[in-house]
Amino acid sequence: MADDLTALEAAGLAELGAATDEAALRAWNTKFFGDKGLVRAALGKLGTIPREQKAAYGQEVNQLKATLTAAYDAAHAAAKEAALQLSLTTNPLDVTLPGRTRPRGRLHPATQILRQITGIFADLGFQVYRTREVETDELNFECLNMPAHHPARDMWDTFFTTTPGVLLRTHTSPGQIHVMRESHPKPIRVILPGMCYRNEAISTRSEIQFHQVEGLAVGEGITMADLKGTITAFARRMFGPERQVRIRSSYFPFTEPSIEVDIDWPKDDPNRDRLTKGTGWLEIMGAGMVHPAVLRAGGYDPAAVTGFAFGMGPQRMLMLKHAIDDIRLFWQNDLRFLRQF
Ligand code: FA5
Repeated sequence: MADDLTALEAAGLAELGAATDEAALRAWNTKFFGDKGLVRAALGKLGTIPREQKAAYGQEVNQLKATLTAAYDAAHAAAKEAALQLSLTTNPLDVTLPGRTRPRGRLHPATQILRQITGIFADLGFQVYRTREVETDELNFECLNMPAHHPARDMWDTFFTTTPGVLLRTHTSPGQIHVMRESHPKPIRVILPGMCYRNEAISTRSEIQFHQVEGLAVGEGITMADLKGTITAFARRMFGPERQVRIRSSYFPFTEPSIEVDIDWPKDDPNRDRLTKGTGWLEIMGAGMVHPAVLRAGGYDPAAVTGFAFGMGPQRMLMLKHAIDDIRLFWQNDLRFLRQF
């Protein structure tokens, strides 16, 4: 081998021996194999070599390249292994440590019960229909058989908007009119879940904002027995067969006859008397046979079809299911409360 190549190889191997970390190795690589590196320079000398020695010189440079590359690869692998060992001893990883649990999101209890209600009614053949929260006086009251100044309007303390005749719906019942006007003349079997607003005194059982799920069935030959059967089937599924359901006669301008439905408060709950005002029952819904005037407002002929309707309160049902002693807890968003569901 030419003397200068022998010297280059020796220098390369010696310097590689001294380079023990990643940075030094990179510098070595640039010095010997970079564009302006020593190996490239040695190859460049080929032009100055006498013709008959060219082939031999070229082979020697290639040989040198191979030797240095192999030495570099070995040194590089060794440096990597050393770095790994160092990090394992200075920064040991305890693979037996338990993992960090991530907080899991969950559905608000109000959403959970709305889904449960729609699931039960889906099984009974009811479709979901959504309507608006901002309503007209006409649909919230007039079409429901409560003309202006009708005393029954006082049953719903109303939030009016600044636009005359426009209000926040006090119940989901105006949705009945929307559905009827859209469905006529077909038979109807729907539920209408949604938020309602009432300007009333907040208490343990009443909020100014709460959900209702309206139900409406219209068709030939529908009777009170169908309403009773539907409500009882629903209550069994929602509360279990052991809970008692009480149906009382009542009054709503938009149903005739009208009823209200109560569920017995959990018997072993110490708050039972306070929350049920000593009766043991909590009302969950109003219902009845759709009044002929309402059928007419919806475009149906009361001589040809009948119907039943109900409006239930999911928050009241959650209270009954879990013996929750204050309806205000649902919108306070205290995570300690919400995490229990
Ligand atoms: C109504 O709103 C009628 N629209 C129900 C109805 C529909 C009757 C169809 C006949 C035919 P009522 O005001 O009673 O009725 O309310 C119905 C249910 O909504 C109550 O039983 C209760 O579960 C719930 N609810 C009423 N007011 C509140 C309130 N302030 N906070 C929480 N839930 C309430």
